[in-house]
Amino acid sequence: AAATLATAAGDVQPIKNVTVFGSGLMGAGIVQVSAQAGCQVTMVDVTPEALAKGEKIILSSLKRTAKKKYAEDAAGAQSFVDQIMANIHQSTEGAQAATKADLVVEAIVENLTVKQKLFAALDEAAPKHTIFASNTSSLKIADIAEATQRRDRFAGLHFFNPVPQMKLVEVIRTRDTSDVVFNSLLQFCRDLKKAPVSCKDTPGFIVNRLLVPYLMEAVRIVERGEASIADVDTAMKLGAGYPMGPFELADFVGLDTVKFIIDGWYTNGDGLKGKELVAPSKLLNDLVTAGKLGRKSGEGFYNYAQK
Ligand code: 3HC
Repeated sequence: AAATLATAAGDVQPIKNVTVFGSGLMGAGIVQVSAQAGCQVTMVDVTPEALAKGEKIILSSLKRTAKKKYAEDAAGAQSFVDQIMANIHQSTEGAQAATKADLVVEAIVENLTVKQKLFAALDEAAPKHTIFASNTSSLKIADIAEATQRRDRFAGLHFFNPVPQMKLVEVIRTRDTSDVVFNSLLQFCRDLKKAPVSCKDTPGFIVNRLLVPYLMEAVRIVERGEASIADVDTAMKLGAGYPMGPFELADFVGLDTVKFIIDGWYTNGDGLKGKELVAPSKLLNDLVTAGKLGRKSGEGFYNYAQK
């Protein structure tokens, strides 16, 4: 009877100590929102330089929030930032950084082998109760989980950029994810003041399954010469109420990322393999080859250096 209770729907395991691998835009955002919710968070990356970049991302985002919250109160703003920063620890120790973790969130490079290697090491180093989650946007969660002996304690936790601002988190369960683990992750998202949605382990989950083909259709309209980049963006902002047009959004996400996602799905995505929706695009490929990756490189569909 006890075993039945332990796995009953709604039963959760507390998540107070979080270790995040990767201090890029997504990793730093996940560190920040977890620290803001009062968790003790360890941000892990391979070099001190990478960690310093992550810290910079967090500080500038926190200052932005603090400025709004404490408009006329500089001391209040500073103490708000200090309190959250005090919850954040840094490490370059790899899997050893997770020895106290209730939850590990991985937000490193989108490469299956590299992710599997990290999780195999974590499986050895982390306590038995630790839940493993990947922030992957395009790989299959079950394929990453395969590297571990804890497939029942493995799930997807997919955040959106900018993490501190975007309310959604997709929580992805594989066939092996246990009820307790899944429910604990849903509760963790609510603790972060995010809105979780439940997803199966399918290509793109919900958001990217819809968003990426939409972005690519916008690119194809322009490739066929049917409308300009600026007009497509204006159309979707003013005609569909999107905060950014598809080209602004593609530049924001990174054109290399968009290309990586469609190429992966076109060659082996369940249900998307070989589909025109995710077929390669010459315009996108040429930009990526030229190093025009969007905002982060200063130019993509638009030129940001001039602004
Ligand atoms: N940290 C804290 N707050 C932030 C922030 C950050 N990094 N970025 C933006 N904000 C806050 C601002 O402070 C502001 O708050 P306020 O409304 O309380 O004053 C609010 O967000 C709006 O920001 P701005 O006024 O500077 O600018 P915009 O109104 O243009 O909004 C945006 C910026 C929130 C990025 C908005 O344009 C947007 O929602 N764009 C779409 C983003 C999107 O679709 N993201 C998902 C991408 S797909 C993805 O991530 C999945 C991946 O797998 C590919």
